[in-house]
Amino acid sequence: MIIKDIKTLREIIKGEKRRGSSIGFVPTMGYLHEGHLSLIREAKKENDFVVLSIFVNPIQFGPNEDLEQYPRDIKRDTELAKAAGCDLIFNPEVDEVFPKPLKTKVIVEELTEPLCGRSRPTHFQGVTTIVSKLFNMVAADRAYFGQKDAQQAAVIIKMAEDLNFDIAITVCPIVREEDGLAMSSRNVMLNKEERKQALALYGSLELAEDMIVKEGILDPQTIIAKMEDFISDYRLCQIDYIEILDFENLQEIKEIQGKILIALAVKLGPTRLIDNKIMGV
Ligand code: PAF
Repeated sequence: MIIKDIKTLREIIKGEKRRGSSIGFVPTMGYLHEGHLSLIREAKKENDFVVLSIFVNPIQFGPNEDLEQYPRDIKRDTELAKAAGCDLIFNPEVDEVFPKPLKTKVIVEELTEPLCGRSRPTHFQGVTTIVSKLFNMVAADRAYFGQKDAQQAAVIIKMAEDLNFDIAITVCPIVREEDGLAMSSRNVMLNKEERKQALALYGSLELAEDMIVKEGILDPQTIIAKMEDFISDYRLCQIDYIEILDFENLQEIKEIQGKILIALAVKLGPTRLIDNKIMGV
């Protein structure tokens, strides 16, 4: 069932709740891959009724980003979502979500500054604003996000806590292709050579893990330098950032200890890919 308007969505959710159903919610921008499907399956395990939103949110794209090129295929998405256990797809048009210019924004401070926040300064306020709106539209009991967007997950957890959203948030593991590339809707935008070189992301994360676990190197800058060195062999890769941060507060660390996030973003032609590893040392 595909629903395009908020009023009908609310009526259906209210009906489900009256019947005692718990509601699981998976927000996406569509062009589903195995990562999204793992979120839908997890939602179906824990809830009676699963809502998937497919909405390419214009306010989280910067002026020179890939909003127009972002891949879309609602027919394919519908089939995949249904097979994974989704009960309702909410696929509104931009005018339904933003009928008038917004005068309200949801901004999470500090956590949004490092990593992707540096090169995409308005991205996270676009994400937190749309996710707040979607949380209010869907009124789910539980929502599911992927660890591939680790910073996004941390920001949304903080937002939900600060604004008392009555929703439990689960972060599910990264799903990878057989060769290690993290699944992403943007992977289809890579040409053959870029797809090969995209392995630099996972390769550099594996290298970082080995340096920490096998060699006991605890200086973040040494590890970052080696990762840069490794990626420089992939001539089409342009590093946007590589950072090693404390996982809880996304602050820089002087030495590797406790739970850490190693995260990077790399541009391959016009396509920007991200990946990360969370490690407890
Ligand atoms: O992760 C995404 O696909 C998007 O950022 C989200 C959470 C659906 C908000 O548009």
